[in-house]
Amino acid sequence: MLDWSDTTPNAPAKQPTHAAVHEPEAEAGDATGLGEIDRSGGRVSVDDKRMINCRADVNQLLPLKYKWAWEKYLSGCNNHWMPTEVSMQADIALWKSRDGLSEDERHAIKRNLGFFAASESLVANNIVLAIYRHLTNPECRQYLLRQAFEEAVHTHTFQYIVESLGLDEGELFNMYREVPSITEKAAWALKHTQGLDDPDFATGTPENDQQFLKDLVAFYVVFEGMWFYTGFAQILSLGRRNKMVGIAEQYQYILRDESIHLNFGIDVINQIKIENPHLWTKSFQEELRAMIKEAAELEAAYGRDTMPRGFLGLNAALCEQYMHFIANRRCAQIGLAPVFPEAENPFPWMSEAMDLKKEKNFFETRVIEYQNGGALSWE
Ligand SMILES: [Fe+2]
Ligand SMILES: [Fe+2]
Repeated sequence: MLDWSDTTPNAPAKQPTHAAVHEPEAEAGDATGLGEIDRSGGRVSVDDKRMINCRADVNQLLPLKYKWAWEKYLSGCNNHWMPTEVSMQADIALWKSRDGLSEDERHAIKRNLGFFAASESLVANNIVLAIYRHLTNPECRQYLLRQAFEEAVHTHTFQYIVESLGLDEGELFNMYREVPSITEKAAWALKHTQGLDDPDFATGTPENDQQFLKDLVAFYVVFEGMWFYTGFAQILSLGRRNKMVGIAEQYQYILRDESIHLNFGIDVINQIKIENPHLWTKSFQEELRAMIKEAAELEAAYGRDTMPRGFLGLNAALCEQYMHFIANRRCAQIGLAPVFPEAENPFPWMSEAMDLKKEKNFFETRVIEYQNGGALSWE
């Protein structure tokens, strides 16, 4: 059985055959791939490739160096789905019924949707506007392009849910600005992407390379790897009790995508560590641990706000315990000491809920057909 919460990241690619060179970044054009073409340059060999601060041509996918990145790209493509293929009929009936859902459940569902609705965009913007520019490896960029599309599909999911249930779109999409416990999380993450968004920012100094790593931790490890997981637990918990089953199925697909995003981020961080061991100082590790701890505390506050009284099988205290469990696990995945005393997983059913048989679920519940080339008309 697959456990999407606990996919061990691929073993990092083997060490470069010669020592990683730490030197200032080459001209910006070299890093972006949009500079002048070097007509007299030699061909790229595998050993020329690096995760960051690389001078090798970023426009050449082959020869592949980081096979784990390419494999994640293929897995992402194999998992393709669209939210509109999931029937919302049962959810619509339940949402419109008078007593099918308690007020606490409605409150939690709306806050959950409100958190995700804007978060998918924040994550997408970070990839496209901050991360992509500084990762100087084409196979990683290939995956980022796939991930960016998946984030668009996830944002589409929230548009589709709002439309299906007739929710107030202004209320939902403004929650990240208007509900303090959501604003706190978004603002915390944005802090880490704002520096990279500066057109003058460039990797190539230890301080800036560490800033880039912090952004990877903020978005891949915390946002997608911690905060999303309590959100998934809330909705999948309802789904297990046969409530909002359409949204729960969509969340299963999102979770499957996110587990690859998370593992990609972990592999990227670990590979940058291998190539740049001077960045991984004791004090930097402590800084990252403090970030993860702070993020778990923000999530606990969000849990109390989302579930002030709790409902069947779920409450803020259990979500906080789950966050501690997940935070420690994420620390281990990037080689940090745990930040909380050992915590037991209060939601062991999550791995089962995430064991998605796409073919079975997809074809039993799909409501529309894929459009293919044959269906298109060129009139
Ligand atoms: Fe997403
Ligand atoms: Fe994601």
